[in-house]
Amino acid sequence: MKKLTLPTELPSERAFLVGVELPDEPRILSIEDSLNELSLLAQTAGLVVVGRTSQRLRRPNPKILLGSGKISEIRSLVHETVADIVLFDYELSPRHQRELEKYFGENVRVVDRTALILDIFALHANTHEGSLQVELAQYEYRLPRLTRAWTHLARQAGGGGGRAGSVGGVGLRGPGETQLEVDRRDIRRRIAHLRRQLDKVRAHRSRYRARRRRAEIPTVALVGYTNTGKSTLLNRIANSNVLVADKLFATLDPTTRRVELPKGRQVLFTDTVGFIQNLPTTLIAAFRATLEEIGDSDLLLHVVDITHPNAVAQAKAVRATLEEIEVTAIPMVTALNKTDLLTNPQATVDLVDEFERAVPISALTGDGILTLLTTIEHELYEAMSPLIVNLPYKEGRLINLIHEQGMIENIKHGQNAVIIKCRVPDRLMKQFIEYIN
Ligand code: GTP
Repeated sequence: MKKLTLPTELPSERAFLVGVELPDEPRILSIEDSLNELSLLAQTAGLVVVGRTSQRLRRPNPKILLGSGKISEIRSLVHETVADIVLFDYELSPRHQRELEKYFGENVRVVDRTALILDIFALHANTHEGSLQVELAQYEYRLPRLTRAWTHLARQAGGGGGRAGSVGGVGLRGPGETQLEVDRRDIRRRIAHLRRQLDKVRAHRSRYRARRRRAEIPTVALVGYTNTGKSTLLNRIANSNVLVADKLFATLDPTTRRVELPKGRQVLFTDTVGFIQNLPTTLIAAFRATLEEIGDSDLLLHVVDITHPNAVAQAKAVRATLEEIEVTAIPMVTALNKTDLLTNPQATVDLVDEFERAVPISALTGDGILTLLTTIEHELYEAMSPLIVNLPYKEGRLINLIHEQGMIENIKHGQNAVIIKCRVPDRLMKQFIEYIN
């Protein structure tokens, strides 16, 4: 019998991409590469890319951003390609957004890179905290942009699937349709509510973290540009089943796994959110707490997709975010991933010096993983620095820590404190800072 199929999915929306280059904006990627990345982001959000163009500007036009000739050329192209969305590789100001929406008219939506990334984050948030963070970022992004146009467009975008914080059409998958009908005051109230909820979830998490710290198992945080293979690597080393997808930002919430290193020591690996160049500021703010957890780790494992034409630029973008959250003092090991795809392995060898303690690996085939784990074990347990501390006897925990994990050269017992000359693992250094002699 012929199976009756019902149309369950709406046809994909069609996006026309627009790149913008301004002279005094530092760029990590060229305008072309940045548009390639935007195209990948658009596909991740389920859009079909139907065309692209870009313009170099001396300064942005205060109303319609681009030059008048260019914008009318784009309008024709949008018409020709039957695009539903004009997607800007640029964070539009609320005014630009409004003016451009007016310019393109009712049937075309204007969406910027930030709204798109927020949308992808909304689709991929898996935990309660992740959903709360994205919802908060979406409201904060939208508050100054709330116009009648939004209400109209949201209605057009319609329901659609997804969990809380993700509804329907791209860039407008606001945090729920009904909210679009409420006014700014209600949105502010919702923002305050979300902040309170987040505070509660975070308090719970910091208690969990404190417990973990007491267990004294060192933590390695996987960091890296989106899609470089962090989840695949975690699966490989922990035999777990963290979601792996050839999509940008498949992983949004930290996932922690316990792993035994080659010489039998234990370590915890956490997979965090993927990084991207110019991560929207609203998102950094919303995810700050998650990102800052990276600061609690003892080692950073930076995963680089060495086969990507922009591998070095991507690594730079990751370092810039790490600087922003002030975690660059933590020791780092680099995994140069996806070597199985290389036709010229010498290229990796040439690049090794560009990165800190780099180990070429393939998370897919397992090549190089043992060397990587040995390097991590060395950094965590064997890389030691000299230290002289004056520890009060009440700091018994720290004294034990030196006995258990460090190498003592000399101890002098005083009345209230003990002076220890020793070597301790670099990862433990920060715990002794206030007692350094
Ligand atoms: P985000 O969640 O976006 O941050 O991504 P991620 O860094 O966790 O990447 P993920 O592990 O999801 O992998 C991205 C894509 O790269 C998937 O299609 C993987 O199968 C692929 N991949 C990961 N490691 C390797 C590798 O060593 N070799 C090859 N050929 N592909 C890999």
